[in-house]
Amino acid sequence: MVKKLLSVLQGEAAAVPPIWLMRQAGRYLPEYRALRAKAPDFVQFCLNPELAADVTLQPVRRFQLDAAILFADILLIPHALGQKLWFAEGEGPRLEPLRDSKDIAALRYDGEKLAPVMQTIRNVRGALDDNTALIGFAGAPWTVATYMIEGRGGTDHETIRRWAWGEPESFARLMDVLVKATSAYLIAQADAGAETLQLFESWAGTVPAGLFERAVLTPTARIVAAVKAKHPAIPIIGFPRGAGGWLPRYAEATKVDGVGVDQMTDITSLALPPHVARQGNLDPILLLQGGDAMRAEAKRVVQAMKGKPFIFNLGHGVMQPTPPEHVADLVADVRNA
Ligand code: CP3
Repeated sequence: MVKKLLSVLQGEAAAVPPIWLMRQAGRYLPEYRALRAKAPDFVQFCLNPELAADVTLQPVRRFQLDAAILFADILLIPHALGQKLWFAEGEGPRLEPLRDSKDIAALRYDGEKLAPVMQTIRNVRGALDDNTALIGFAGAPWTVATYMIEGRGGTDHETIRRWAWGEPESFARLMDVLVKATSAYLIAQADAGAETLQLFESWAGTVPAGLFERAVLTPTARIVAAVKAKHPAIPIIGFPRGAGGWLPRYAEATKVDGVGVDQMTDITSLALPPHVARQGNLDPILLLQGGDAMRAEAKRVVQAMKGKPFIFNLGHGVMQPTPPEHVADLVADVRNA
């Protein structure tokens, strides 16, 4: 039997929608914090196949979700390109920022650096049952480039926007480097046993309209085409967060099989081709709060999406202070809605 998540990504509606959550593994889980304490360097933690497989499986064991998402990070691509990456305690990711076209020319993708991720995938696949799908992922080029050029999160992406408008050729070169590296990385994940792939475009919301084609649509479409050339049947989910108005065009231009929908967008009225799965979009704040408001909203969305290919998820990742019990409640609410 086809796993439920995968059949929805093939365009089928499920009587009870599959559910998984972005950032379902992470610091809100005490068992994550316990393992994380064993590997103080976050990059090395991601590149330890035993620990990473264990962390991937933690939320699946605890909540019986319909999918496991590979434990890794979107910034492993800049790491494999030779850019210096570190995670400062309490500060989030830091990179030695790219300054000019010479820095772009110096990037070289070394897939060997990410070989441990493929071992994590094999370890997880061997441990999953016949109902639970394994999701691989990568960051989409614009989002990864924001970190590579800004050097950190939490900016309004002024530096990269200036670069993209002012030096379109070197910006296109960076997109090209990222398209090729990301395609190779995702193909390797599919070779190793990932059953579907998600492209996180977490910062689609800062792309000016006049750059959207060059920064989001074309690079994403190229990655989807490259992966499907090697793995024609693997479904791909694109998640251009903060770009609700673009979603119909995004689905059409990129040929993704599923679209992630943030909590700002009305998932129930989204005009996508009928076979494209919609994934989302509970406000992570509702999961943090739990209780009746969460239950009512989950029920509203599940009922409105009946008959459509729909995957229950959040509109963004699980927030760190979320009580794990609320996740158990949410899974029950969705399955009983
Ligand atoms: O459970 C899962 O979803 C799988 C693992 C996963 C992580 N990061 C683990 C992680 C996934 C899918 C990501 C994707 C990711 N990483 C994104 C896209 C999704 C999104 O949230 O928009 C982005 C933008 C990143 C970059 C990144 N990595 C940031 C901004 C941070 C710091 C934020 C924070 O919570 O501290 C990270 C670190 C990170 N990636 C953590 C985890 C569990 C926390 C690190 C820790 O344990 O100290």
